[in-house]
Amino acid sequence: MSNATDLSRRKLLQCLGFSAVATAVTPEWLSATVEQGSQKQSGQSEPDIEVGITALTTELPVLSSDRPTKVWKFSGELVKGPPGTVEDIPGSYLGPILRLRRGQKVRVRFHNKLPEDCVIHQHGLLVPEKADGHPRHQIGSGQTSVYDYTVLDRAGTYWFHPHTDKRTAEQVYYGMAGLILVTDSEEQSLELPRGEYDVPLVVQDRSFDDRNQFRYIAHMHDRWRGFLGDRILVNGKPNFILQASTRAYRLRILNGSNSRIYKLVWSDGSPLTVIGTDGGLLESPEVRNYVMLAPGERVDLWADFRGRKVGDEITLRSTAFSGVMPMMGMGGGMMGGGGGGMMGMGGGMRGGMTGMMGGALPQGAEYPILTARIAREERDQLVLPRRFSQIQRYRPQDAANAKKPRSIRLSMMGMSPRLNGRSFELTRVAEEEIIPLNTLQVLEFVNRDHRAHGMMMAHPMHIHGQTFQVLKRELAPGFEQRYASVSQGFMDNGWKDTVLVMPGEKITILKRFDRYTGLYLYHCHNLEHENLDMMRNFLVQA
Ligand code: C2O
Ligand code: CU
Ligand code: CU
Repeated sequence: MSNATDLSRRKLLQCLGFSAVATAVTPEWLSATVEQGSQKQSGQSEPDIEVGITALTTELPVLSSDRPTKVWKFSGELVKGPPGTVEDIPGSYLGPILRLRRGQKVRVRFHNKLPEDCVIHQHGLLVPEKADGHPRHQIGSGQTSVYDYTVLDRAGTYWFHPHTDKRTAEQVYYGMAGLILVTDSEEQSLELPRGEYDVPLVVQDRSFDDRNQFRYIAHMHDRWRGFLGDRILVNGKPNFILQASTRAYRLRILNGSNSRIYKLVWSDGSPLTVIGTDGGLLESPEVRNYVMLAPGERVDLWADFRGRKVGDEITLRSTAFSGVMPMMGMGGGMMGGGGGGMMGMGGGMRGGMTGMMGGALPQGAEYPILTARIAREERDQLVLPRRFSQIQRYRPQDAANAKKPRSIRLSMMGMSPRLNGRSFELTRVAEEEIIPLNTLQVLEFVNRDHRAHGMMMAHPMHIHGQTFQVLKRELAPGFEQRYASVSQGFMDNGWKDTVLVMPGEKITILKRFDRYTGLYLYHCHNLEHENLDMMRNFLVQA
């Protein structure tokens, strides 16, 4: 790798020191709630919120109470701050819900009681590098580290999970993930469902052995294609039922799966009313027949159960789709010139192939995710707001690299998924991965590796730091059929931190790199791909 720059530790520490550099053109959304004091990221100023988070191993009833499952878990405790800031999910392996307000200064004291290294990443939030969970900050068993950050982001559904070098997929799979629900004055001024009517739903797939223990990678292809479990869990529970009233709900759905992609629909055919994405509320609600949700992505739905009767049930399902999986050596002929991985499913595909598609519950299969059961009558006065927020659109011509987008080419070289032909190197960055602080950048994810055509698959690409805007999606000719069953399900109008890049697709995004210098990761959020080093650093530098 001739153009790679090896960074000495000292250089990086210097970089971190530049983080307080003020800028004349701080974008509005960042400056809105940032007080003077929070410019310091030294961690010396008094936090508003102090939380203890312990990573530990334990046993919990996941499938049944007489045969508990061994899990790994974040357990949380509030040390300082308003009551309700830390909410444990009783009986679940999922970590606590942190309820934060924009502008708060947060300190997390992290105790690692796992038998191996760990580090916490705050997915979707812009935080200093030292609080972002870069694997170079992971700590060993028995150690403690402190994360200090100010909540700069808009109200929205964010989450945290481990980001340990080559161990993220296992650690998340065995249970480690929690939610960060941020609110702000804009959101508070809106009449939205709150309290018990604002329901976080973490959707994951798992497999169990006959003693109710998690079963992870069973075949080599589970690694390079991504693990697919055959049980769908919501908030850590199978057969999830939401006991609902005849009123409006806000459902915040996170795809916390390692590699499973969902195509969300309501079982009775009613359309989905989407009100938010990764980075919080949309400008206005959007009605869709279905919504694609790839690993790492979030979507907030407005679910109105008015007019339903007590006893009614409505199911949120994942419905059939194709085109996201590799076609291998199948050739265009058999798959109908670019047909998707699911094409053969119903049609009696042989054992080996079924295994490759994900065993009992293949990628793109049809299955229920959760059931809303109408349990009681209740009236509310809530009316779906016609407008939530104003999103300032970035303009491509304002980008520092307007004429030269930074291209990130996704590829599968053999069994090794890569970015621009490279694998992750802990602290290395290539020339084109160095980004000047406080700039708007055009980036493009390109999933068109024609040399390994049969290995082409969808990759949910994620970038740390600020959320971004999707400018456009372009599909190479010949991929239309493979794209058809997912094409209407991408929520590209809001703030995003993860986008699903389909085979043949090029997605152009606009992203700012403000406020903090240091190493910020970008990677595939198919966690098996992340483990296989489909990840790189950006170095944001003053
Ligand atoms: Cu949710 Cu770098 O990941
Ligand atoms: Cu992230
Ligand atoms: Cu990938």
